Amino acid sequence: GFSWKLNDHPKLPKGKTVAMVVLDGWGEAHANQYNCIHIAETPTMDSLKTGAPEKWRLVKAHGKAVGLPTDDDMGNSEVGHNALGAGRIFAQGAKLVDIALETGKIYDGEGFNYIKESFATGTLHLIGLLSDGGVHSRIDQLQLLLKGASERGAKRIRVHILTDGRDCLDGSSVGFVETLENDLVKLREKGIDAQIASGGGRMYVTMDRYENDWEVVKRGWDAQVLGEAPHKFNNAVEAVKKLREIPNISDQYLPPFVIVDDSGKSVGPIVDGDAVVTLNFRADRMVMLASALEYEKFDKFDRVRFPKIRYAGMLQYDGELKLPNNYLVSPPEIDRTSGEYLVKNSIRTFACSETVKFGHVTFFWNGNRSGYFDNKLEEYVEIPSDSGITFNVQPKMKALEIGEKARDAILSRKWDQVRVNLPNSDMVGHTGDINATIVACKAADQAVKMILDAIEQVGGIYVVTADHGNAEDMVKRNKKGEPLLDKNGNIQILTSHTLEPVPVAIGGPGLAPGVRFRTDMPNGGLANVAATVMNLHGFEAPSDYETTLIEVVDK
Ligand code: 3PG
Ligand code: CO
Repeated sequence: GFSWKLNDHPKLPKGKTVAMVVLDGWGEAHANQYNCIHIAETPTMDSLKTGAPEKWRLVKAHGKAVGLPTDDDMGNSEVGHNALGAGRIFAQGAKLVDIALETGKIYDGEGFNYIKESFATGTLHLIGLLSDGGVHSRIDQLQLLLKGASERGAKRIRVHILTDGRDCLDGSSVGFVETLENDLVKLREKGIDAQIASGGGRMYVTMDRYENDWEVVKRGWDAQVLGEAPHKFNNAVEAVKKLREIPNISDQYLPPFVIVDDSGKSVGPIVDGDAVVTLNFRADRMVMLASALEYEKFDKFDRVRFPKIRYAGMLQYDGELKLPNNYLVSPPEIDRTSGEYLVKNSIRTFACSETVKFGHVTFFWNGNRSGYFDNKLEEYVEIPSDSGITFNVQPKMKALEIGEKARDAILSRKWDQVRVNLPNSDMVGHTGDINATIVACKAADQAVKMILDAIEQVGGIYVVTADHGNAEDMVKRNKKGEPLLDKNGNIQILTSHTLEPVPVAIGGPGLAPGVRFRTDMPNGGLANVAATVMNLHGFEAPSDYETTLIEVVDK
């Protein structure tokens, strides 16, 4: 029968402290002026690279290697940390929703049948990120769902959009809203009362994460549910164009707006008897709104009105909390993660990041599961992130504090694994501010040094890697790799992640002599890291895990 017991590794010892460092958004790309990692002073990461090919290599962090639909899909933190932690490749939310829509199974499921009960008398509201980024949602999935729901009885539909510019180019929101408007016009021609009802920029409206700032969710609630916002427009394309004219405002940060009719009344508040679907398949930035929509008891902000609705998520966002209770597509079942195995084999585990990435090294790492496996053997520490700022203003973020916490955890010798996420290159890279991103990369490198120094002192082992690319390329390129210019001749800044591979480095005084990267796995990806780490803790990985990246040669 099944057992959690891991076999001993035939050659590698137990008892070494292993530091597992994930640099968020740190990919490997050609050295040029748009590669912030290259420009920044990063002596620690540079020195690790000199260990290639035995102690440093690249792994795939995008596309099918991490369970995304195609190899044109850039990597992201959810799928990256899932792969790192689970050691296997699972079809991810993006893919599962695609399949459910293609086969039509989405419409046979309990979730759709539940919301459908509101179609005869109520409005169907769709709330989510409007772009083709494929990280949290995809516009083509919304388009299919609009079609499918209207063919199955939805007569009144309201879409509440969140503009992106973070997983896609800034300014692209105008085009996405136009595309959506065209679809809604076609529905109206068929006699369906379908309109955009509200909107706002994803980072300012609704899509906060890990409870960093509930005000963000409240702003969305006011517009989506109450139909109240500081800006009112008759038309969503005009709304986005006008709001983009506000100085220093980009798609990500558009203020909330509502669409009003000729008498000035908002066209789509959410009221008793309505159905609501949150379109994002990814959990971290939708679960806060999900709790506000779902829970009778709620004290995070004053909802003013709590409508009696039928609510379903595109996916269930938290399997432990069963939140939301109703959903259109079942989430990937990521079971038997390396974190759970290691804890069940007595590996004492410490994990730390700052708020904006805290769930990445805990929830995502553990297969989208919140909480401890064994609170006697684990401690997860969250360092509060600054809130209410864009991180180009504070590019060092809490790198130093994370480094210090990890250092202290390592030196305490109370932990076998000390795992951190350093957010800088990702969070600042997403702002598109090149100079700030250079400062960010340097800060992350300094935190890595603090951790490696501590590992040196305790005779431990380090694994340094990343979850996907971001800061290594800050410009949109054409197929030939040349920077793309906008109509004014300026380069187009890339705020999003990339398709680049990421480094994996191993080392430290505790690394047994003869351990090196295998040469027979040129296509290795993030999912291969879990088995590697289990080996470094002295265990063999379960047989269905993706193969280890290391071998031990006799020295
Ligand atoms: C975000 O949510 O900030 C971006 O869409 C993706 O970034 P992440 O995958 O690095 O969290
Ligand atoms: Co990111």
